[in-house]
Amino acid sequence: MTALPHFTAHNGFVLPAIGLGTYALDGDAGADAVATAIGAGYRLIDSAFNYENEGSVGRGVRRSDVDRSEVIVTTKLPGRHHPSAKARTSIEESRSRLGLDATDLHLIHWPNPSQDEYVQAWAALVEAQERGVVRQIGVSNFLPEHLERIERETGVRPVVNQIEVHPYFPQAEQLAYHREHGILTEAWSPLGRAKELLDESVIGEVAEAHGISPAQTVLAWHVARQTVAIPKASSIEHQRSNLAAGEVVLEATEVEAITALGRGDGRLFDADPATHEES
Ligand SMILES: NC(=O)c1ccc[n+]([C@@H]2O[C@H](COP(=O)([O-])OP(=O)(O)OC[C@H]3O[C@@H](n4cnc5c(N)ncnc54)[C@H](OP(=O)(O)O)[C@@H]3O)[C@@H](O)[C@H]2O)c1
Repeated sequence: MTALPHFTAHNGFVLPAIGLGTYALDGDAGADAVATAIGAGYRLIDSAFNYENEGSVGRGVRRSDVDRSEVIVTTKLPGRHHPSAKARTSIEESRSRLGLDATDLHLIHWPNPSQDEYVQAWAALVEAQERGVVRQIGVSNFLPEHLERIERETGVRPVVNQIEVHPYFPQAEQLAYHREHGILTEAWSPLGRAKELLDESVIGEVAEAHGISPAQTVLAWHVARQTVAIPKASSIEHQRSNLAAGEVVLEATEVEAITALGRGDGRLFDADPATHEES
């Protein structure tokens, strides 16, 4: 065991290795879950305009006793808001819904390449950061070609790319690309949505060797690969155990054995950023 690791982006922005996903955490229960997570030690919270839960996330953050400056609240700009004028309003609307002084990390949710408006969306985030309504800016589900284009056209590199990563879809090449460019990788669905992945025998063996659960083993695998995992967990028991997993150190051979579960069609659903469109 060691302390919870932190990872640093090209501009010095630092993220903890484990954050809280909030997809489907909404309403009063969502606000409660966010507040209990912060009380348990979480300092990174993920949400999105499209999750329709920014209000609950903001309420959970405001309810906690932890100093506002210590918590990194993330949201995401939806595909239908990519055009410049809509993006500017959407960014303001997210901040209003969160009820916070500024959004700590604002991402473009999907590139939607056939729509071809993600450069406008990125320029709007750059401008919002200059105005101080957004502290840090990044993207989600961007392929290297999308990352290269926004930097070429605006001169600004994202600090984060949030992508699908779990042992069935380890994304080694994209992770190496991010590392080379100082872009932090956040892993969405890091537990593979807690389905058959957690029953894999190799994960069970590593879990037993460390006296931890299969979910903790998968999260420790993410940390070993220097990705920030954002598991969604509604109960305080899952929240606590997921955060504690960030302090577990796996052997390199264990990491390799889990990575070997990867397969070309390992995505959880049809979410190839080259073709997937999210409104
Ligand atoms: N950028 C994107 O396009 C994108 C796409 C998908 C997701 N995301 C983000 O990533 C977050 C995480 O992904 P996800 O929600 O799809 O999947 P996930 O985090 O891989 O799995 C969530 C499931 O795991 C269960 N779980 C959590 N901790 C557990 C534990 N210790 N033991 C056993 N089961 C456990 C949860 O149940 P309980 O709630 O009952 O604990 C829930 O059913 C989302 O919430 C969202 O914030 C982003």
